[in-house]
Amino acid sequence: MIPRLLLTGAAGKLGRHLRSSLRPYAQQMRLSDIAAMDAAGPNEEVQFCQLADKQAVDQLVQGCNAIVHMGGLATDYPFEAILEANIKGVLHIYEGARRHGVERVVFASSNHVVGFHQQDEVLGTDCLRRPDSYYGLSKSFGEDVAQFYWNRYGIQSASLRIGSAFPEPKDRRMLHTWLSYRDLTELIRCCLQAPQIGHTVVFGMSDNRDPWWNNAGAAHLGFKPQDSAEPYRSDRESTPPLDPNDPARRYQGGGFVKSGPFN
Ligand SMILES: NC(=O)c1ccc[n+]([C@@H]2O[C@H](COP(=O)([O-])OP(=O)(O)OC[C@H]3O[C@@H](n4cnc5c(N)ncnc54)[C@H](O)[C@@H]3O)[C@@H](O)[C@H]2O)c1
Repeated sequence: MIPRLLLTGAAGKLGRHLRSSLRPYAQQMRLSDIAAMDAAGPNEEVQFCQLADKQAVDQLVQGCNAIVHMGGLATDYPFEAILEANIKGVLHIYEGARRHGVERVVFASSNHVVGFHQQDEVLGTDCLRRPDSYYGLSKSFGEDVAQFYWNRYGIQSASLRIGSAFPEPKDRRMLHTWLSYRDLTELIRCCLQAPQIGHTVVFGMSDNRDPWWNNAGAAHLGFKPQDSAEPYRSDRESTPPLDPNDPARRYQGGGFVKSGPFN
């Protein structure tokens, strides 16, 4: 049991689910976001916080033993917005962790750090990063921050390259990238409870057929997904595929590879 677990992005789609699904693993949960959320229940604290505000994040982190950092912009935006929420945000989280002795951080990275790899490749966790957007760049920076704080300060981290975490896979691409909410929770549990993780990069995917990623490099986490996109295949494949020359079909990042420019 973690004495006090901080969950950022607690008002978001994944955060709302994790608020209850991670509860068995923490005595106390500190829930944070800039957006409205339900009032604190038993063994919960709600603390609104702007991630771009270094001092506010420092206060947020104080007293916590581990952090699940889900907060930030979850799709592509102009650089200035990404800079505030994601780039400054992740650095402030790690600075708070350093200052207050937090031992472990689970960082919501994204498959969009490798979005410009082709869909016919199978990537290991140590593959070259090829970010597909400002959003992907910010997650790539976050992974570097996690590595730096491990090497320099001994803070253990997992960077979860989440594929597509939704109640169901929505389209053909998600037959490869889907991560069920149940498997997301189990992955985070593994990252919080595995004895030694250093800085581990892991792809967040369910047990899908024809995956684009291989998690052998993160086997020490002990993550075994229970779900698969397979039951949704016939329905999702009943819609016509994208044109083979469409970059969204060629590259793993899908539509993100066509994001921007924003001027
Ligand atoms: N859902 C997915 O499939 C997926 C895939 C890859 C990565 N991720 C990552 O997982 C995390 C959660 O994703 P989600 O789908 O729940 O997204 P979401 O947008 O529903 O939740 C993100 C939350 O962060 C909060 N937030 C945004 N900017 C903030 C700021 N400056 N300060 C404080 N809070 C701020 C938002 O209010 C929101 O509640 C994100 O970091 C996202 O990048 C999600």
